[in-house]
Amino acid sequence: MSLTYLEAAIEVAREAGAILREEFERAPEISYKGDVDIVTQADKRSEKAIVARLTEAFPEHSIAAEEGTGHEGTSEFRWHVDPLDGTTNFAHGYPCFCVSIALAQRETLLAAVVFHPYYNELFAAARGEGATLNGKAIHVSKSASVATSLLCTGFPVQNRQLSPNLQFYGEFTMRSHGVRRDGSAALDLASVAAGRFEGFWEFGLKPWDTAAGVLLIEEAGGKVTDFAGAPYWLGGPMILATNGLIHEEMRAAALETYRRVVTRAEE
Ligand code: IPD
Ligand code: CA
Ligand code: CA
Repeated sequence: MSLTYLEAAIEVAREAGAILREEFERAPEISYKGDVDIVTQADKRSEKAIVARLTEAFPEHSIAAEEGTGHEGTSEFRWHVDPLDGTTNFAHGYPCFCVSIALAQRETLLAAVVFHPYYNELFAAARGEGATLNGKAIHVSKSASVATSLLCTGFPVQNRQLSPNLQFYGEFTMRSHGVRRDGSAALDLASVAAGRFEGFWEFGLKPWDTAAGVLLIEEAGGKVTDFAGAPYWLGGPMILATNGLIHEEMRAAALETYRRVVTRAEE
């Protein structure tokens, strides 16, 4: 069953990806949703196509899409859609962006697609069926220590001054091979699933940023929790996603940093 859903998600993601490729060749029309949160014509066109196709195929399903054109359905199935993850990169002509689509039945993620149309990389997963990149099985990396890991994180596009992440960025930069900031949480998570990064963390991500990436990582053999080690829930305040092997080391360092930052802020 999940495979049928996955096939539908792949088709829709490819269609949306073609729209993004086309829009990427033009000068973007930028508007702001607040702070430095950009939205372009590409976000809207991509979402319109995805919502139309999913609604046609699964009229009873709910759709939670970032630009707000989704709807509540009558079933317990919900699609989480980021029509363009990495909008700031996209708007600056930096080709690091993707379409992210996932299907959940209540709290259980069933199918996931992250499509990078510029490099034509399609990451896909169905629960219990493993994760793939362009049809080939992918697995998390085997690196077993933070000291030999390449990590990744991201920073919010709203209320940046409230984010504690700069301290975490400094801490993990000193402990690892380095910390990348690629600007697309869905691709960051897909990169953990593919073994390109050992770990990723971020604060305040939304369900459409993480839903597909979380299933990709779980199906590729990795682990996703919060800093206390509790299972990550969509829209939770922070996410820690790793290859599993460095999870405990990263989690302990993150928790220690968190306590230090919060304590200092309260003094
Ligand atoms: C953003 C990207 C970025 C992350 C931000 C997200 P958007 O999504 O995923 O990497 O750091 O927190 O909001 O706005 O490009 O869809
Ligand atoms: Ca996003
Ligand atoms: Ca987006």
